[in-house]
Amino acid sequence: MHILIIGCGLAGLSAAITAAKAGCTASVLAPLPPERSESVLAAGGINAALNTKGQDDSWQQHFRDTMKAGADLADEAAVRNLTEHAPALIRELAAAGIVFSRDKEGNPDLRYFGGQRKMRTVYAKAGIGKQLVSGLTAIARRYEAEGKIQLLLHRKFLRFIPAGERFAGAVVENTVSGTLEYLSADALIVGSGGMSGLFPKTTGSCVSSGSVSASLFASGIEMGNLEMIQYHPTTFETPQKRMLISEAARGEGGRLFTIRNGQRWYFMEEWYGKNGNLMPRDIVSQSIYKVCHDMKLGLDGKNQVGLDLSFLSDDIVHGKLKEIADITQTYLGLDPKKEVIPVYPGVHYFMGGILTDRNHRTSIPGIYAAGGCACIYHGANRLGGNSTLGAVFGGRTAAETAFADGQCHHLSENAGHAAEESARALMRDLQGKAGTGKERPGQILSDIQNAVSQHLGIVRSADGLETGETLLAQIGDRKPYFSAGHIADALAVQDLRLLGSAMLSSALFRRESRGSHARTDFPQRDDVNFKATCAAKFQNGRVCIQKEEIGRTFDAG
Ligand code: FUM
Repeated sequence: MHILIIGCGLAGLSAAITAAKAGCTASVLAPLPPERSESVLAAGGINAALNTKGQDDSWQQHFRDTMKAGADLADEAAVRNLTEHAPALIRELAAAGIVFSRDKEGNPDLRYFGGQRKMRTVYAKAGIGKQLVSGLTAIARRYEAEGKIQLLLHRKFLRFIPAGERFAGAVVENTVSGTLEYLSADALIVGSGGMSGLFPKTTGSCVSSGSVSASLFASGIEMGNLEMIQYHPTTFETPQKRMLISEAARGEGGRLFTIRNGQRWYFMEEWYGKNGNLMPRDIVSQSIYKVCHDMKLGLDGKNQVGLDLSFLSDDIVHGKLKEIADITQTYLGLDPKKEVIPVYPGVHYFMGGILTDRNHRTSIPGIYAAGGCACIYHGANRLGGNSTLGAVFGGRTAAETAFADGQCHHLSENAGHAAEESARALMRDLQGKAGTGKERPGQILSDIQNAVSQHLGIVRSADGLETGETLLAQIGDRKPYFSAGHIADALAVQDLRLLGSAMLSSALFRRESRGSHARTDFPQRDDVNFKATCAAKFQNGRVCIQKEEIGRTFDAG
């Protein structure tokens, strides 16, 4: 069995390794190598109830914390599976040579993280992503040497090709040669990360633009909970992006404050008690928003609050939090042992994405999704440290499911030829577009990003969301220029506009406030009407949003 995998971050690598172990071959397609994947940016850690510090932790508590932080929108069975398997997964990663910070007994050390009552976050100083990606890459390379994994770099996904209702292959653009290629496979696992491309600046990487999700959406795949966008409470702006100050800083004791009446005011502690700084991210970000916008008490009269680490020991600030000190030194020229870090929430993660069932099947038979592009584990708000876990575990589960489903499905030779024919027709059609269109895709994209980001902030209202929808509808009349060798960019702009519309429409549809979705016009949570997944689909030329039961299952096909 041959599996095509999009993305070589944690989900993609984990899927490829699992597929190779099961005896499949896997082609992993990505624009850039694993070292440049978004997963590398993961900072704080990976959650597992290891219970190695006598803290009376259990996977059941991890499960409950995850469900509670997700405001009851996550798939219970999927979260149970994730949290139950997390401790064994960490032990396996450690045994495979992944480097974690260790405690005195030699166990992977644990730290506190937001929204969790127990010390449960395994870490590697403040650079877990680098350790996980380099460890998994080393394992994948061994399978590559055996011919079981093939890394296809400098490729951008354009469209999937069906045979009947089922996935049969993908048309991709080779960004070096500028040619289009057809890759047939028995299954597709999408591990292409979040939808950062819909916002001008996020903590994410430009590699994970959301164009793969957008292409699949334009081709009819169902998406879920697109309105659930995580604003990480502690970020700051640079010319290119928002830099993350890992939650690890607050996990190790860092305190948020502003100045009120000439005195430091630790607002999170006053509002939420001694663990206030480590409330779930939706609550911390909405609180910072309230301080800066409603109360007009931002630090130094700006939209920012202070994060104080100066009272922590040097071992913590320049040791356990080394990467954070490096970032503030490089970008702000400040040493957090001596000065306060000015922070404000920034777009960090998308809880919504491609709708999958607990086995990572999507609404299109033969296509599976895992990691940041998938909507499965995080409901309305994600716990820090659950994304790395969800990506590694999700990639593995997706590959196991694809393998199991693949045992019962074989594309007939005729269906394979027909799929190849339609791929060739599509490639001719796309190549024929070269030279058409008027505007630079980047300019259109920038207008899409502004429309989406202005109206999908930390708080939303019907007026703003409708304005955003109108702006995107108007952008629909503009034609991106298709230049030979850059077809993916022009196509992505068109697809991302649709996905952006679906995000705005989902936020408009959910007339309540829950988790990361805060509506000024519907400030209460409404379990009677909205304890459900908001499913989005592009069909008959329209974006359709409807409520769906949480935890739907999809057909193996
Ligand atoms: O703050 C952080 O280190 C982010 C972690 C995460 O998003 O999981």
